[in-house]
Amino acid sequence: MISRYFKEYKWSNIAAMIRNNGRDPRVCTRDFKDKLVVISGATSGIGYHTARKFASHGARLLCINRNEKKSAALKTEIEKEFGVGCEYIIADLSNLKDIYSAAEKLGKIDSPIDVLIHNAGIYLTKRELTSEGFDKMFVVHHLASFVINNLLGEKLKSWKKARIILVNSEGHRFAPWGLQLDDLNWDKRRYSGLKSYGSAKLAQLLSMLLFAEYFKPWGVTINALHPGAVRSESGQENGPVYRWLKKHLYDKFLRPAEISAEAIYYLGVSDEIEGVTGKFFNLTTGEQPAPPALDKEAAYELWVKSVEMTGVKDIIS
Ligand SMILES: NC(=O)c1ccc[n+]([C@@H]2O[C@H](COP(=O)([O-])OP(=O)(O)OC[C@H]3O[C@@H](n4cnc5c(N)ncnc54)[C@H](OP(=O)(O)O)[C@@H]3O)[C@@H](O)[C@H]2O)c1
Repeated sequence: MISRYFKEYKWSNIAAMIRNNGRDPRVCTRDFKDKLVVISGATSGIGYHTARKFASHGARLLCINRNEKKSAALKTEIEKEFGVGCEYIIADLSNLKDIYSAAEKLGKIDSPIDVLIHNAGIYLTKRELTSEGFDKMFVVHHLASFVINNLLGEKLKSWKKARIILVNSEGHRFAPWGLQLDDLNWDKRRYSGLKSYGSAKLAQLLSMLLFAEYFKPWGVTINALHPGAVRSESGQENGPVYRWLKKHLYDKFLRPAEISAEAIYYLGVSDEIEGVTGKFFNLTTGEQPAPPALDKEAAYELWVKSVEMTGVKDIIS
C-alpha cells in the first residue's frame, strides 16, 4: 500500500501547504440577496460564523442541525439581526435515517439551492459506532454528504449553477497511505482518532472527484476546503483531559473562525470561482491534496462501498 502513493509525494506540495496555512482568505464583497444557502452544523464554530456571513449579505438560510434549542436560538438571532429567513431541519447526521429524512426535506424545496455547504463535523479520540454499526466520524464526514448529494442529484442538476462546498480538512493527510477499504469501521485495526478523522475526510475528497465529473455538464460545481485551523467547539464529546488541553493549549494557537466563514463565502459567491469544480482549497488558495485523494480507482471502490453501506440510489452508475 505504501509504495502505491510514496513516489507521488512531493516536498514542494508540503511546502505549499505550510505557506498556505499562514495566508488570509480572499474576500468577496458581492451581496447574495435572496439566494438560498443550505448549511449543516450551523449551531457552532465555523458553521455558525458562515451562517452569519451569508445572512449579513442578504442570503436566506436553511440549516441542518442536530440540536433544537440551539437551532431556535440561531433562527431568532439571524432573523432579528439581519432580517433574512433562517429555517432549520433537525437531523442527527450520524444516523442514516435522519440523513435520508433531511435529504427528502431538501428535495421538496421548490426554490433552487444556490449554495449547499456540508460543514457538520466531529472529532472523536475514542472509537464510536453508530446505531448501524459504522464508524461515527466516517458517517458524519463522508456518508452524510454522500447520501445527500446522491439523493439531491437530479434536483441540483435541474437547478443548475448550484455550488456544493465540502468543509474538509488538511487532516485528510492523516491517512497518508490511503483508505483501508476492507476496514472502514476500524474493526481490524487499532483505532486512532487522527487516523479515523483523516480517513473520513479523505473519503469525502474521493467522493468529490466523482461528483464533480457527474455534475459538470449541468454547471453544478463541488469543491472542498480546509477552513483553517480555527477556534471552535470541536472535540467537546471527548474526555476532560482532551477538553482541558484544547482550551488551555491548542486554542491559543488557533485563528478565529471568521476566517473560515470569509473563505466559504468567497468559494460560494465569488465570480472568480465560477465553473471551478473538483478542487481542494486551503481557505481560498487552490492546493494539491495528498496523493491518495486523487486516486480515481480508490474513489470508485469507495463509491461502491458507500452505496452498499447506505443503500442509497446511486446517481452515477
Ligand atoms: N476547527 C478547525 O480548526 C477545523 C479544521 C479543519 C476542518 N474543520 C471542519 O470544520 C467543520 C466544522 O467544525 P468546527 O470546528 O466548526 O466544529 P464545531 O464547533 O464542533 O461545529 C460542528 C457543528 O457540526 C454539528 N454536528 C456535529 N455532529 C453532528 C451530527 N451528528 N449531526 C448534525 N450536526 C452535527 C455541531 O452541532 P452541535 O452544535 O449540536 O454540537 C456543530 O454545529 C467540521 O467538518 C470539521 O471537521 C475544522
